[in-house]
Amino acid sequence: MKNILVIGSVGQIGSELTLELRKRYGSSNVVAGFRSTKPTGELLESGPAEMIDATDAKLIADVVKKYKIDTIYNLAAILSAVGESKPQVAWNIGIGGLMNCLEVARENGCAVFTPSSIGAFGGGTPLDNTPQDTIMRPQTMYGVSKVAGELLSDYYYKRFGVDTRSVRYPGIISNVTLPGGGTTDYAVEIYYAAVKTGRFTCPLSAGTFLDMMYMPDAVKAAIDLMEADPDKLKHRNSFNVTAMSFDPEIISAEIKKHLPNFEMDYDVEPVKQAIADSWPNKMDDTAARQEWGWEPTWNLETMTQDMLKVIGEKHAKGLI
Ligand code: SER
Repeated sequence: MKNILVIGSVGQIGSELTLELRKRYGSSNVVAGFRSTKPTGELLESGPAEMIDATDAKLIADVVKKYKIDTIYNLAAILSAVGESKPQVAWNIGIGGLMNCLEVARENGCAVFTPSSIGAFGGGTPLDNTPQDTIMRPQTMYGVSKVAGELLSDYYYKRFGVDTRSVRYPGIISNVTLPGGGTTDYAVEIYYAAVKTGRFTCPLSAGTFLDMMYMPDAVKAAIDLMEADPDKLKHRNSFNVTAMSFDPEIISAEIKKHLPNFEMDYDVEPVKQAIADSWPNKMDDTAARQEWGWEPTWNLETMTQDMLKVIGEKHAKGLI
């Protein structure tokens, strides 16, 4: 990776991944692609930024040629819950955008990273220790586009030799940019609510176990996979990766260790609950560990300490 384009650089993952890529590969070598929301602060000041709409192949091609891009991180997506209210948009961005990236990559010799998700599972998938290779019949547009994206990316690798790689991210917990409209967002919102008001109303029921990961590990997974020796990869699109699995009761109890007055109640949102019920409780990520050395750094305890510290500082400064 010498010259890198991040499409979706102001999103939850993009805003942190872009800065980490700039640290590792040089600020001027990492282009922050954005659509409607312009980058601000360090993201804007630390390197080049270009307007890119994933659904416009010419815009992507122009930027790839201008900066001699060799690696595209294609992060543009509509998350699962919002995707159910705008399925056509979710497909256009998820698959139309991916197809554009793959075609530009084929013509210009780029590698492509595209996140898949726990949302690719559902409809008959074994939910405990979900295997790397198993039944994938999701019932959300998010999941349908993720499975189709995995297949399309493998197709471009096998048919045209485009170096496509991907991980199936679990819920990602972070404190820089909020996620928008996902089923796992509760596990981010709970920390902000705990710090700001000491109370949280959870949209998923007690006992709903889902895989989760702290953002530094999500960023590490994306970079480590793109740096991995291709000869060792038996899979490409896409690898199960996870760091922890918990339900709302467990994360709430962990927060209570630090904020004893924290209280949580439930107001279950049926759309989110149905989605969560169809997703793995815990994935088996042995293939990622064996093929490219995946290993998470953060667990629920260490992540909770860090989240409460960072969000607490922001709150004390009046930033949130
Ligand atoms: N965080 C995503 C969502 O909840 C899952 O990949 O939609």
